[in-house]
Amino acid sequence: MRPYRSPPIMPMLPISFTVNDRPTETTCAPGGSLLRLLRSEGWAGVHQVCESGDCGSCTVWVDGQPVHSCLYPALRAQGKAITTIEGVAQDGQLSPMQSAFLDHQGFQCGFCTPGMILSCTALETTDEAEIRAAMDGNMCRCTGYQTIVESVVAAKNGHAQPTPVTTSGVGQSVPKQDGPKIVTGQPIYTGDWAPPATLHMQVLRSPHSHARIRSIDTTKAQALPGVQLVLTHQDVPRIAYSTAGHGEPVPDPHDHYLLDAKLRFVGDRVAAVVADSAAIATRACELIEVDYEVLPAVLDPLQAIGDKLREAWPEDLPVCEHPPLVHDEPESYQIADAAHNISGKVTLGAGDVATGLAEAEIVLTHTYHLPACQHFHLEPHACTTWLDEDGILVVRSSTQVPFYCQNLLCKLFELPKEKVRVYKPNIGGGFGNKQDML
Ligand code: FES
Repeated sequence: MRPYRSPPIMPMLPISFTVNDRPTETTCAPGGSLLRLLRSEGWAGVHQVCESGDCGSCTVWVDGQPVHSCLYPALRAQGKAITTIEGVAQDGQLSPMQSAFLDHQGFQCGFCTPGMILSCTALETTDEAEIRAAMDGNMCRCTGYQTIVESVVAAKNGHAQPTPVTTSGVGQSVPKQDGPKIVTGQPIYTGDWAPPATLHMQVLRSPHSHARIRSIDTTKAQALPGVQLVLTHQDVPRIAYSTAGHGEPVPDPHDHYLLDAKLRFVGDRVAAVVADSAAIATRACELIEVDYEVLPAVLDPLQAIGDKLREAWPEDLPVCEHPPLVHDEPESYQIADAAHNISGKVTLGAGDVATGLAEAEIVLTHTYHLPACQHFHLEPHACTTWLDEDGILVVRSSTQVPFYCQNLLCKLFELPKEKVRVYKPNIGGGFGNKQDML
């Protein structure tokens, strides 16, 4: 794995342009993207997701042409007219495309909607197949695209209607109450707001599948101007917990520590840096010197369970007799079978299963293999936290499980519940992945 090197921290350069007809004079980082510049100027409707031109959530118009602002160098915007979703409605009147999205409810969480509306407005076809093909630069996880396509077809055919206000009624389709805000880019998601002078955290991650930290030296990172705090496994409480928020008592394996000397996958957390800016925190992570003892790893889950494979799977698979153990530390707990790298077991049944199988005309037995999947919510994981004037730890997080987060934070930091408040603002999709507390 090639280590990522952050760009050097360079002096800012002056730039001027208009955003939604508003003259703007500011500075930007050489090599920085238009996306980051617009967000730093407060245009929160320009959403930051993949930053590789794949998802389209950051679409804006530059001199009337839609572009992925994450790929557009900020300095090229000099003298240009930028339009974001906040500038599409004129004099309080929605554009035909905004009205059509509202009319056909072409959204759910709304995180993709600003980019969708800006891209779709530029389409010059009413053909549904062509619209679908042309939209491949904009992704939506929630809608299945059907209502978006219906919105675009309606707008292009001049059939957008004002949405009647319906708040209740059996047998009626009730539109989302925040629909007008969504189509004008007004919802403020977790990453769109932070208190003044917020610090940024960056995590140094493991380059190895399986390793132990022999020693870690944070001296150079701590000496970098703008670094406020560097944390390693030596600085955090050693309490095993589950990241999964499934309820109380927690049914999932307790297999995580905040930071640990043992690293169990590529990307596992080695250290955390808090600094005045994200760029400084990233640079400080590169200055942390880690001496890793690289341990043997098994990358196949069946091989990882060792001789249990013989009893669990009838297939004639070669067995790894002594697989390396993911959890070999004595204090690990609530892991179903640590000696065989089995974190948990699930058995499902309804009624008298044995009798049911005995009486069945057909019994199918098979082993099913699934690839690793990502839930693909468009809004990334994000969290901002501060101590309020009453000494309460406030956590603003894109989470599906605020009460689980509160419980776990209380446990990890030995705080009473009244000292921890977790809340979620608008959420740009979760699909179960935000039941994990990262
Ligand atoms: Fe498209 Fe949620 S509405 S990602």
